[in-house]
Amino acid sequence: MCGIVGYAGYRDSQPILLESLKRLEYRGYDSCGVAISVNSALETAPTIEVHKDVGRVVDMEKNLPCVHGRVGMGHTRWATHGEVSPANAHPHLDCSGRIAVVHNGVIENFQSLRDELSREGHHFSSETDTEVIAHLIENYYSGDLERAVARALAELVGTYAVIVMVAGHEELVVARRESPLIIGVGDKENFVASDVAAVLDYTGSVVYLEDGDIAVVSGESITITNNGDRVQRERQVIPWSVEEAQKGGYEHFMLKEIHEQPKAIENTLKGHISLIEPLIALDVVKDEGLEDVLIVACGTSWHAALIGEYVIGKLCHLPVRVKVASEFNHYDMAMDKTWVWGISQSGETLDTLQAIKKARALGCPTLAITNVPGSSITRIAEQVFYTRSGPEIGVAATKTFMTQLVALYLLAMSFASLDMMVYEGLIEGLRLLPSKVQQVLDEVGKIAQHARELSPYANVFFIGRGLNYPVAMEGALKLKEISYIHAEAYPAGELKHGPFALLGRTTPVVAITTKDDTYEPMLTSIKEIKARGPQVIALAEEGDEDIEQFVDAVIRLPQVDPLFSPFLNSVALQLLAYYTAKERGCPIDLPANLAKSVTVP
Ligand code: M6R
Repeated sequence: MCGIVGYAGYRDSQPILLESLKRLEYRGYDSCGVAISVNSALETAPTIEVHKDVGRVVDMEKNLPCVHGRVGMGHTRWATHGEVSPANAHPHLDCSGRIAVVHNGVIENFQSLRDELSREGHHFSSETDTEVIAHLIENYYSGDLERAVARALAELVGTYAVIVMVAGHEELVVARRESPLIIGVGDKENFVASDVAAVLDYTGSVVYLEDGDIAVVSGESITITNNGDRVQRERQVIPWSVEEAQKGGYEHFMLKEIHEQPKAIENTLKGHISLIEPLIALDVVKDEGLEDVLIVACGTSWHAALIGEYVIGKLCHLPVRVKVASEFNHYDMAMDKTWVWGISQSGETLDTLQAIKKARALGCPTLAITNVPGSSITRIAEQVFYTRSGPEIGVAATKTFMTQLVALYLLAMSFASLDMMVYEGLIEGLRLLPSKVQQVLDEVGKIAQHARELSPYANVFFIGRGLNYPVAMEGALKLKEISYIHAEAYPAGELKHGPFALLGRTTPVVAITTKDDTYEPMLTSIKEIKARGPQVIALAEEGDEDIEQFVDAVIRLPQVDPLFSPFLNSVALQLLAYYTAKERGCPIDLPANLAKSVTVP
C-alpha cells in the first residue's frame, strides 16, 4: 500500500527521498511524488516544490529538476479515493501552497469535511481524502504547525500516518493513528517512513510511533506528544541489515526469498529447540482455563493458520477454529474460553489488526505471530511470537509463510502432551527441515521445466487432502497472484461436487500426493480426473514408483514424516508459480493491483 518518507537534516533531501521511496516500492503503488521545502534566497519567500506523476519512481526521477532543500517528504500512492492521476498523487498542498501533506490510511469523513471547507472557500485540486488534511491544517495554522496539525487531526475519522511541513521551516510534523510510522534516528538528521526498509541505508536505529503520537522532527531533535502530553518512545535497533533487503544477485526478490528458506527456518527454530536436547523453550504462555484456539489471518497467513489447525488438532487435541480476519467482524460465536491468535507477516494488515482488537474487547487473551519487530500487531496483542525470516520484499509471501508454519508447529508441540519418543521424533523432523527444503531447491531446474509446460494455460486446479489441502490453496494463490493464471484449489474429494464440469484438456491439475492416509483416496481422485482429460502433475515423494502410472508428470520431493510434508510441497509450489510467471514475462515482485501490506479495510 502507500509508502511515505520524510527527511530533515543537513543534506540535500531530494536524493535521500528518492532512494527511500525506491525501498518502499515493494509495498505496491501506482503513482508517486516528492515535496521539498526550498531554501529560497533571502529576498524571496520560501516555497515548497512539488513533483508527482503516475508510474514508477525511476520514471519520475528522469524528469525531475534538481531541487535543493534540507527538509522534504515523498510518497508512493496505491489509489483508494480517485483515479490514478498526477493530480491525485501525493504530496498535496493547501490553498496557499505553503503547507504540504503526505498520508497513508483512509479518512472516512473526508466528504463532509471537504464540503464544509469548500463552502468556506477552499479550492481542491484532487479527488483524494488526503487533500482535506492540508486544507484543515491551513485553517488552523498561525505559526505553530504542531498545534495546527493536532487540531486538524482531532476532526478526522479514520486512519492515518501523515507527514506535514510548512515552507521555510526546518522541521516535519508527523502523526499516526492505525497506520504504521517510524522515525529513523541519525546523527544530526532524522528520517520518517512507513517502514524500516526505507531507512536501512541511513540508520540502524528507529523509534516506533504509537497511535495518537504527534512528533516534531528536525535534524537535531525529535519531540513526541500524545494527547497533549510529552512522551518518550524507546529507540530500538533494527534487527535487519541493508544486504537482507537487497536482491543479492537474484533476478527477483521472490526467488531470493524462496532460496533463503532453509536459513529462515533455522533462524526461527534457533532459540526454541536446542540442537542437543529435545527441548522447546517458548516465551508464549497458555493461560489456565483456556479451552480452544481461534486463529485470524489473511491471504497466505490464513493458509498457514489452516495448516496449523490440523497440526494443533492432531498433536494437542485442542479445538481450533480459523477465520479469515475480515470475516471475524461478522462472527458471533461463544468465545469465553478462547485464545485468539493473529498471524500477519507484516504485522500491519488492517483486517487482522481489527480482528485482534475485537478479540481483546471481548476479553480473549491474544497472541500475535509476526515477522516484523515493532509492527502494529505487536502493540495490540498481549503476547508475540516472532518469526525470524528477515525482511520479505517480494509481494508474494514465501519465507514468511514457511516460518509461520515453524511457529505453529512449535506452539502445537509445546502445548501437546506427547510420548517422549514421539516428541523426539518430531524435534528431529524439525531439525531436518532446512536440509530437506534445500534438497527441493536443488531440483529447481526440473520444477522450472514443469512450469514452462504450465505457462500457456488459462486455468489450473490444485488439489490436496487433509493437511495438504491448505497447501494446495497456497499453491493456487501463489500462481494466480504472480502469473495471472486463474488458479483454484479444492479438497480432492470435493471436485466431483461441481468443479468436474470445468475439467478437460485445457485445465491441468496439480495434485499433492503425500504418503499418509490421504494417499489412496488421492489416487482415486486422480483417476477420476484423468478420465476427463486434464494433464495431472503430481507432487510425490522419492521412492513412490506407483504414482507414475496415474499421472502425466511427477515433481519429486524428499521423504519426510507426512506431518512435515507441507513445508516441502509449499516450496515446490512456490517454484512452480515463480517459473510459470517468469515464462509469461510477469512483473513477479510487483504484481498488478497488489500491495505487500494491506493497510486499508
Ligand atoms: O502481512 P500479512 O501476513 O498480514 O499479509 C496477509 C496477506 O495480505 C498476504 O499474505 C498476501 O496474501 C500475500 N500477497 C500472499 O502472497
